[in-house]
Amino acid sequence: MQSKTLILYASKYGVTRQYAEWLAEAVCGDCLPVSKARPDMLAAYSTVIFGGGLYASSISGIAFVIKNAARCQRLAVFTVGLTDPSLINHAEIVNHNLPPELRDTTAVFHLHGGIDYARLSLPHKLILAAAKKLAAKAPNDSPVAMLPEQAANFAAKEALAPLIAFAQTHVSG
Ligand SMILES: Cc1cc2nc3c(=O)[nH]c(=O)nc-3n(C[C@H](O)[C@H](O)[C@H](O)COP(=O)(O)O)c2cc1C
Repeated sequence: MQSKTLILYASKYGVTRQYAEWLAEAVCGDCLPVSKARPDMLAAYSTVIFGGGLYASSISGIAFVIKNAARCQRLAVFTVGLTDPSLINHAEIVNHNLPPELRDTTAVFHLHGGIDYARLSLPHKLILAAAKKLAAKAPNDSPVAMLPEQAANFAAKEALAPLIAFAQTHVSG
């Protein structure tokens, strides 16, 4: 069967979408917001890659691929967050977001995201303001306590190299 990759994403402010589009371009894959995906389309792909922004350590939109994982021949997940990927607690994110039966079989990658305070929704502005207040009183190393002061975008095409290599490694047999 011909190798085909489907990239699904959930992105509130566009950073994950940007990574998904770069990835689709690099591997000649199909790319779709997860809200438009249907379970019956998954079996046509040799690899499904889902990307979601991190919000309070939860991967946005991941429910669809968890529910339909059995329909995916091969599944990978990438997260996009403001925590520097080299500092992220990989096991914590995986355990928090993936059910036990998918933890060993799903490849998980972490990418550096961005934030534009002017574009945040009111609920997100309020959550961040509350978290910052809390962090000022009791310093901690939660992702929201480490947010940059100004708008920042750390998205970089080069960071996709491991995901591109994953997509291009075909399972044999
Ligand atoms: C309310 C809120 C909570 C967030 N929580 C986290 C978090 O737990 N970990 C993290 O690394 N980044 C966190 N972020 C940063 C987002 O993951 C980051 O902005 C990402 O680029 C969003 O991607 P998207 O625009 O594709 O949704 C948070 C941002 C907001 C607004």
